[in-house]
Amino acid sequence: MIKLNINNSGIRDHELSMVQPMVETAYRTLMERTGAGSEMLGWLNLPFEYDKEEFARIKAAAKRIQEQSEVLVSIGIGGSYLGARAGIEFTKGPFANQLTGDGVEVYFAGSNISSDYVQNIFDIIGDRDFSVNVISKSGTTTEPAVAFRLFKEKLEAKYGREGAKSRIYATTDAKKGALRGLAVEEGYETFVVPDATGGRFSCLTAVGLLPMAAAGMDIDQVMQGCADACTKYNNPDLMTNDAMLYAAMRFLMLMKGKSVEILANYEPSLTMFGEWYKQLMAESEGKDGKGLFPVSANFSTDLHSIGQFIQDGSRTMFETVLWVEQSRHDLTVPNDPANVDGLNFAAGRTMQYMNEKAMKGTLLAHVDGGVPNLILTVDRLCDYTFGELVYFFWKSLAISGYMIGVNPFDQPGVEAYKKNMFALLGKPGYEDAKEALEARLSVLD
Ligand code: PA5
Repeated sequence: MIKLNINNSGIRDHELSMVQPMVETAYRTLMERTGAGSEMLGWLNLPFEYDKEEFARIKAAAKRIQEQSEVLVSIGIGGSYLGARAGIEFTKGPFANQLTGDGVEVYFAGSNISSDYVQNIFDIIGDRDFSVNVISKSGTTTEPAVAFRLFKEKLEAKYGREGAKSRIYATTDAKKGALRGLAVEEGYETFVVPDATGGRFSCLTAVGLLPMAAAGMDIDQVMQGCADACTKYNNPDLMTNDAMLYAAMRFLMLMKGKSVEILANYEPSLTMFGEWYKQLMAESEGKDGKGLFPVSANFSTDLHSIGQFIQDGSRTMFETVLWVEQSRHDLTVPNDPANVDGLNFAAGRTMQYMNEKAMKGTLLAHVDGGVPNLILTVDRLCDYTFGELVYFFWKSLAISGYMIGVNPFDQPGVEAYKKNMFALLGKPGYEDAKEALEARLSVLD
């Protein structure tokens, strides 16, 4: 159950009435599939239209991974990584790998180009059995391709070529790309990133579902949460549809000169959800010189660092608090007769109670400091609410993206760094660019 409270936003009713027609236009554009990027709406009815046969194979593969291995290495970057990691930490907490319970440990590789990071995962695996899920829609992304070579070599050294093949699962385009070619040639079990689904909208396809299921998440519940959100957020009415209201609020904040949205949480389990949100918002709206810059903050930790800026720095931001009503556990502050730390005023209180007071106190301080606030409340962190929240953000973002007049479903800006990197690495076809870039870089020497 998701609730949006806008009472500390500073936005007034008549402002919402003014944007209602814009929301309706954006909503129609989305649902009638007539807007920019409409060929990428595979996520829109996903919870009702997904491939059930593949879904059953995902569950079977997860079970096999759990039987054969203690560790799954999930290799991917951006949309091919963030959702799965966000889901696992959302439901199992930041120590999911140390508290695995019913699933395997899942480590994420291929989202950087660091030798130290890969070696750390080698060391963590040690002599234990492991499997690999390599995920790339294009099948050509450099970071996961490098990591896959390294982990494939490890698998082959440990299990032999044939043994390695039965431990590799490839999630990629149905027909094209280097990874599809390799998977067919080697006979890996494969899963599909659907054509009409961009990376940041793919975490509830095989891309995210296989690592999540291997980690022990109940993916039926995830899809149920997603399906219920799809049914619920199915009208353009700002009075009854919080996904639309959130879109309208973000649009109005931009109109009022805000350029930064902070998604703040008070649960370490939501740190990676904040990373997922940043990619979703930034790649969808940050184009053509427009968009809100998405930032995530982990409170109360970050109140002791960027908290100063939020309270008192340049007034460019608003804050959306992602608040969790019920914690999974309820620890209570112990009484201490000596009371040397003076903390007995809180003795007997649950940490959740204290966390809530921290949230409310911070919210009012930030509002007083000129930072408008929205509160997005979920009842608890579980498989179901993860699916629900993912769909809420997808639908809302599609509307706000159309409202600001961008194509929310492409990401042309991601290519620029890749071209330069390929040229500097000497990839065939980039020779001219290499010379020009090296001339510019000579000032760094
Ligand atoms: O959202 C996106 O499309 C990107 O972040 C991609 O997911 C990311 O670049 C990875 O691409 P691929 O899955 O093709 O390796």
